[in-house]
Amino acid sequence: MLPSCVRFLTLLGAASSSLAGVTVQKPGLTVPPAYASHKTDVEKIFTTSYAAYKEFAFGHDELHPVTEGVGDDLGGWGASLVDAMGTMDLLEEAVNFTATIDFSTPPVPQLISVFETTIRWVGGLISAYELSDEKYPILITKAKEVTDKLAYAWVGNNTMPYHSVDFTTNTPQIGTNSIAGVGTLSLEWLALSHYTGNETYGKLTEGGVIAVAQLPAPLPGLAGQNVDPSTGQFTNLYVTWGAGSDSYFEYLIKYARYTNNANTIFVDSWKTAVDSSIRTLLRNSTVGGHMYLADYDAEQLIRHVGSHLACYYAGNWLLGGKLLQNQTIIDIALQLNDGCWNTYASTETGIGPETFAFISSDGNFTGGAAITDEQLAFYNEHGFYITGSDYIQRPEVLESNFYAWRVTGDTKYLDRAASAIASFNKFLPTTVAFACLNNVNDITQGFIDDMESFWHVGLFRRSVCVLNLCIYRFAEVLKYLYLTFDDPTHISLDTHVWNTECHPLRAPPALDSY
Ligand SMILES: *[C@@H]1O[C@H](CO)[C@@H](O)[C@H](O)[C@H]1NC(C)=O
Ligand SMILES: *[C@@H]1O[C@H](CO)[C@@H](O)[C@H](O)[C@H]1NC(C)=O
Ligand SMILES: *[C@@H]1O[C@H](CO)[C@@H](O)[C@H](O)[C@H]1NC(C)=O
Ligand SMILES: *[C@@H]1O[C@H](CO)[C@@H](O)[C@H](O)[C@H]1NC(C)=O
Ligand SMILES: *[C@@H]1O[C@H](CO)[C@@H](O)[C@H](O)[C@H]1NC(C)=O
Ligand SMILES: *[C@@H]1O[C@H](CO)[C@@H](O)[C@H](O)[C@H]1NC(C)=O
Repeated sequence: MLPSCVRFLTLLGAASSSLAGVTVQKPGLTVPPAYASHKTDVEKIFTTSYAAYKEFAFGHDELHPVTEGVGDDLGGWGASLVDAMGTMDLLEEAVNFTATIDFSTPPVPQLISVFETTIRWVGGLISAYELSDEKYPILITKAKEVTDKLAYAWVGNNTMPYHSVDFTTNTPQIGTNSIAGVGTLSLEWLALSHYTGNETYGKLTEGGVIAVAQLPAPLPGLAGQNVDPSTGQFTNLYVTWGAGSDSYFEYLIKYARYTNNANTIFVDSWKTAVDSSIRTLLRNSTVGGHMYLADYDAEQLIRHVGSHLACYYAGNWLLGGKLLQNQTIIDIALQLNDGCWNTYASTETGIGPETFAFISSDGNFTGGAAITDEQLAFYNEHGFYITGSDYIQRPEVLESNFYAWRVTGDTKYLDRAASAIASFNKFLPTTVAFACLNNVNDITQGFIDDMESFWHVGLFRRSVCVLNLCIYRFAEVLKYLYLTFDDPTHISLDTHVWNTECHPLRAPPALDSY
């Protein structure tokens, strides 16, 4: 039997934009004219941010082409959104710049993350290629160039890749990897196999996911957070839909859709993970009855914690619930989405915090500090309390809101997106563009980093990794917001599968069931 990824290549070759099979979006959906101005609002934020980006960062000597965001911001934006906005000159400028990048010789020796580079660069370049009607083959050439370096993360007969590769020596750093690091490469690498005709990319990444999915997990379908590629075993049995594990789960169902179940292990693993989560991790807060997915630690204790990052789960469950035509999953996903939105609706800025916690009928254990009086007072009012107050321009809550809109057609999700735009315009602008916040519930605590260095050091990167997220994430935030107010048939959940960095990839027509 051919590996599923090879069979898929034939399938994608025959893909057309015609709809078939099960649909994810509400049929006939349109954005009411009253909401048109919000699309313009997003375009304005984009134009301001992009102008600042060009002024301070674009093509700057300091920028390292691999770890930095050019692929994401230009490759990704360049096609996915810039093209959607019809500003093709910016796209061509970005393509021209990309053509000058030499991935084989990094300016300074350094370890390159396989995961980060895949989701930003490989995903961004391929998405750019597709959305510009395959006019710039150089984008595939560059995606191949960087992926050929990343492929050194597989050594010997390991089925799982190491976390990072030294591009100077073409050797990986030996150590553990997260399951997200192993499991969030498959869409991008399989797409690359399709465009290059080299099956190795898809085979390597698919093999890693299958290896994780086949390990005995702490809870059915719910893998531990970390693995050692040299042994192929878990090194950590912490279960979470949040950081470290997140996009492993996310890609199980997306890969099932992208490959149309060529191998059923992906959809089966996702179903088992969701079923197990509903049985074991789902919690209602004792105040407000908000629904959350708890963590489950290596001591088998439920941790009553949540995070902005994990809030992608609502959108992911909506996608999977629609593909599986399972109303139970859809209904729970919509409640999880409401729980995440409540973290926005409850703060002074209307923007949600980085991390939070809650209390349910089985207690309040978080694995961290005990709840303070101030937190308890906030909890008694809002049904969650803030444990990490910053906002680093993460997209997940608005990502799930985008899915909720496209799936249900309920305009309350357009109102929520509009409210977030208003908050960004009110609280994030600096003299140059848009910043990250120290405390979403206390604006007097100001921006992260001071303005000047924030824009150079923080926003436009360098060694301060956390702050780097601001520009990366902004690409995602604005794309999800833009798409929320865009014509739903333009880049549809029925024709595309989004990578975890908001780069849509063209999918084959859907099956009748998954
Ligand atoms: C991109 O490069 C092409 C070929 O060199 C050139 O014709 C075009 O003007 C450039 N576009 C931009 C926007 O710089
Ligand atoms: C396919 O890609 C792999 C991974 O980079 C590489 O080792 C191999 O040489 C390529 N095969 C061909 C035929 O180009
Ligand atoms: C890996 O390959 C070596 C031979 O190259 C073999 O001895 C070993 O058993 C293999 N290990 C696994 C886990 O398959
Ligand atoms: C829908 O999903 C739920 C939760 O996993 C499961 O219990 C139920 O059996 C599924 N329904 C069908 C018809 O498969
Ligand atoms: C949570 O509350 C909903 C009603 O809002 C209820 O249907 C569900 O059974 C509750 N779930 C748990 C895990 O308590
Ligand atoms: C948190 O849990 C501890 C241990 O069960 C309990 O003593 C305490 O009262 C709880 N606090 C709140 C605010 O529920």
